[in-house]
Amino acid sequence: MEVRVLPHGQRLDVPQGENLLSALQQHGVPISYSCMAGRCGTCRCRLLEGDVRPAGDDSAHTLINDDEQGGRALLACQSMVMGPCTIEIPEPDEVVVHPSRIVKGTVTALADLTHDIKLIRLAPSKPLSFSPGQYATLQFTPDHIRPYSMARLPGDGELEFHVRMVPQGRVTGYIREQLKVGDTVRVSGPLGTSYLRTRNDDPILCIAGGTGLAPVLAIVRGAIAAGLSNPIHLYFGIRSPRDAYGLDWLNELAQRHPRLRIDVVSTETGSDRDLRTGLVTEAVAHDYADLNGWRAYLCGAPPMVEAATVLLRDRGIQADHIYADAFYASND
Ligand code: FES
Repeated sequence: MEVRVLPHGQRLDVPQGENLLSALQQHGVPISYSCMAGRCGTCRCRLLEGDVRPAGDDSAHTLINDDEQGGRALLACQSMVMGPCTIEIPEPDEVVVHPSRIVKGTVTALADLTHDIKLIRLAPSKPLSFSPGQYATLQFTPDHIRPYSMARLPGDGELEFHVRMVPQGRVTGYIREQLKVGDTVRVSGPLGTSYLRTRNDDPILCIAGGTGLAPVLAIVRGAIAAGLSNPIHLYFGIRSPRDAYGLDWLNELAQRHPRLRIDVVSTETGSDRDLRTGLVTEAVAHDYADLNGWRAYLCGAPPMVEAATVLLRDRGIQADHIYADAFYASND
């Protein structure tokens, strides 16, 4: 079967029934991957035409959806080549490969960042490789498992997570009441496709809602560590002034990256003159009429991420240059 791979147009000869990710790897086509299990989304690519089918019974893990340009997003690791086809892989020069693994992490610090946000630091038993902006699944006990984003860089040694305590939340209740320094947490990952792209000069827009600041901090730290000089405009959206945290970290980053601009936007008003008031998307809309040529990293609650995506598309950012991992609070 001939598999044509865009954007470079390679033509691969692939046996029928072959796993698409394996076929790409065997032919030396650069493709990002991590979990190889349909969970992280890193191997996502587009089927433009032809016959590619789910590798297992669960097609929901393979074919994600039809996109605006008439293609179909799919996960290469969960797809079988059944006939001639044309696929498009994303940004072949931005390949990241961090094979998913499970490491043990020992809790080294627990601290309150705000009235309802806690910081958790873990010392991993083995280094976990990941790209800034990715997340991992933390298993506190077999019954207490949640995904959280890494706020620091892999080279920092310890892993840092920011967790908002959900009222009556079962997992966050465990974290608040039972987790202590010295406990062991199983960390599996990395997961997520909203990681820092380093090989371009495009200006960067980061929009963080609440603890969505964690991956955005990692992205800015990663940009500085990689020596990027791209302008960065970071918007941090919070509900009220008492939800603000990490301002010292942000100020320190702004000193290290002269082209980093930071706006903290609070939905409710307060006495702090450094805060803007309103929705974070309103602030972006007010500041920018045209964002053509920018790249955006979004992390926060789904309504904010969805509203921001609509706004940024409207302001001219290419759909494939908007990187978003919405997180969902769970009360169970
Ligand atoms: Fe395919 Fe994770 S590598 S979804």
